[in-house]
Amino acid sequence: MERHDFFSQHPNTFFVNPPADAVLPTDAWAWHIYAHARFVNRPNSLVSHTLETLRSHTQPVSMNDINTVLIFIPKEKKLTGYLLENVRSFFPVGIQVLLVGSKDVGIKSWANKTMPGFSRTHTAAIGNHCQLLHTQLEEGNAFAQEYGFSRTQIEVLGHTIEVSFLPGVFSEHRLDAGTQLLLAHLPTDLGGVICDFGCGSGIISKFLGTTKPVSELHLCDLSALAIAASQRTLATDLNCHYYLADGLPAQLPPCDWIISNPPFHQGKDTNYDITKQFIQKVATKLKSNGSLLIVFNQFLPWPTLLEDQFQNIRIVASNKSYKVALAKHPRTRN
Ligand SMILES: C[S@@+](CC[C@H](N)C(=O)[O-])C[C@H]1O[C@@H](n2cnc3c(N)ncnc32)[C@H](O)[C@@H]1O
Repeated sequence: MERHDFFSQHPNTFFVNPPADAVLPTDAWAWHIYAHARFVNRPNSLVSHTLETLRSHTQPVSMNDINTVLIFIPKEKKLTGYLLENVRSFFPVGIQVLLVGSKDVGIKSWANKTMPGFSRTHTAAIGNHCQLLHTQLEEGNAFAQEYGFSRTQIEVLGHTIEVSFLPGVFSEHRLDAGTQLLLAHLPTDLGGVICDFGCGSGIISKFLGTTKPVSELHLCDLSALAIAASQRTLATDLNCHYYLADGLPAQLPPCDWIISNPPFHQGKDTNYDITKQFIQKVATKLKSNGSLLIVFNQFLPWPTLLEDQFQNIRIVASNKSYKVALAKHPRTRN
């Protein structure tokens, strides 16, 4: 895009799903589905699971000048469809829509394609393993509140729980094998104020709410779609609080337990920094007798890092692929 001097040629562009390292013009309008810290406080930024929210969120006066929508396509095809459906409901017929992405996220599969409501895509530029595709909105459509949601009954250790998903939310329609190991080794005294870090569909919180004496559940995730899916999954009388945040949210109260199957990916790329930072900070969010319970792939170096932060750590379960570690607050003796 930089090579094609995109920003000076298209000053009135609305950005959809820009990656964390995208260098956008400072006053650009953008819709983010991930709450990357550097985007959250930008003046024309919306972080939400639908573009619809923008109608009530701001006075879209300067939006009248928008003549181009640029979508950074994610690797999940269904999520790209979800983004397109949002764009289709929000912008006027005739607006030009550009799709940009690399070979790795499957941009080629969107070339010469006709998506519902849009003209056939054609290639506008190619370079550096990336493509820029052009299409035009031909027919609008109201955005249905239910669009993209799906619901699945999942068997978890003898309990059938109903879980809601949106496109791109982790482990769609199944229980992840790491999460299963974690849930199979919950300490007997687990309860009270609990934080579910990187909640995804909310499956961990739902299981805890069903089987343990929880008083408050605090669910956090970087993805607005994960938070929206969790809100559906947990739509009960449990005392739940939701945080759309990059890392542990500042407003999180002191917790009895923090539980997680933490990420080591950001989109298609491996990223250890999120969990490193989480482990470095997590003790500050625990009550003085609080504990952390996490599951992770065998190859990840988290035990050493946990030992640096907690004197008292124990591997409570381990199989060919995963480990579950229990770490007690540094001030707790046993
Ligand atoms: C391995 S998944 C676990 C999801 C769910 N807890 C489960 O067990 O099915 C990790 C989750 O962390 C979220 N995540 C990624 N980066 C994050 C960040 N910087 N801050 C908070 N959550 C993040 C992802 O969106 C994803 O939902």
